[in-house]
Amino acid sequence: MVTDPILELTGVVAGYGPLTILHGTSFTVQRGAITTIIGPNGAGKSTVFKTVFGLLPVRSGRILFEGTDITGETPRALLARGLSFVPQGRNLFPELTVRHNLELGGITLHHAGELQRRMRAVMERFPILREKADVQASTLSGGQQKILEIGRALLLEPRLMLIDEPSIGLSPILVKEVFAILQELRRRGVTILMVEQNARSALAISDDAIVLEQGRTALAAPAARILEDLRVGQLFLGGGVASAPRPDEIPLPGAATEGEPGGAVDARQALDDSRSGE
Ligand SMILES: Nc1ncnc2c1ncn2[C@@H]1O[C@H](COP(=O)(O)OP(=O)(O)OP(=O)(O)O)[C@@H](O)[C@H]1O
Ligand SMILES: [Mg+2]
Repeated sequence: MVTDPILELTGVVAGYGPLTILHGTSFTVQRGAITTIIGPNGAGKSTVFKTVFGLLPVRSGRILFEGTDITGETPRALLARGLSFVPQGRNLFPELTVRHNLELGGITLHHAGELQRRMRAVMERFPILREKADVQASTLSGGQQKILEIGRALLLEPRLMLIDEPSIGLSPILVKEVFAILQELRRRGVTILMVEQNARSALAISDDAIVLEQGRTALAAPAARILEDLRVGQLFLGGGVASAPRPDEIPLPGAATEGEPGGAVDARQALDDSRSGE
């Protein structure tokens, strides 16, 4: 198999003050793919993104982007290199207009004409942003706000986009819309690395998947395989991949797992998309 890694983490250690969250995280992201990181709450998924994007210092290990060591680079330098980040939650300036929020994505563009050209291009791709250009961002629906955040992250024409929980708080129909946008970006050559709780829907549009547990890569495999493991109950997020029971040992929902009171079952249920009404 020909591989063309766009991002490589090797033994990355990072955390907050005295807390170490990433205990030597390693994985590779292939150019042109959609890769999804899944894992239980608190596994360190958002911490991986903050560390890759230079918002948290790397204590040891290294990060390569397109073969270049970017360990310790600032977010601004990374944006200029072609890496962008859409964080978890709401990240707009609610009082500013849609247009003004979008403009802020052009931070490293020094040529006003170029900024205007790219603004027009993003608005053409997402007509809702043109339609709403002059209204306050706070008046947009949750899905429209996410589209604005994605549009803003596209302003610098990144080659790799990190996107943390794009579907959170969105209705199932808007989740589909946002995922369709990610697929369209992939067709246009943008590599996507996302974190998603909506594991089944996300894996269905992904090429590769990474299971993160307690700050370590527990499993990295084609998304279809991980999806299948979720389906047959081989994968117990929160219960530990290594300790996942064989299919004939899968506890029934509601049954307590010895040593982990309900933990593994709860985690599996939390990942069941049926919860979100699909
Ligand atoms: N700013 C912070 N200061 C201290 N600890 C933090 C901070 N942010 C996160 N943590 C802790 O780091 C751990 C990993 O958090 P992180 O946000 O990376 O998890 P996650 O996998 O993204 O979880 P979730 O699925 O809930 O988004 C958690 O124990 C969390 O409490
Ligand atoms: Mg998170």
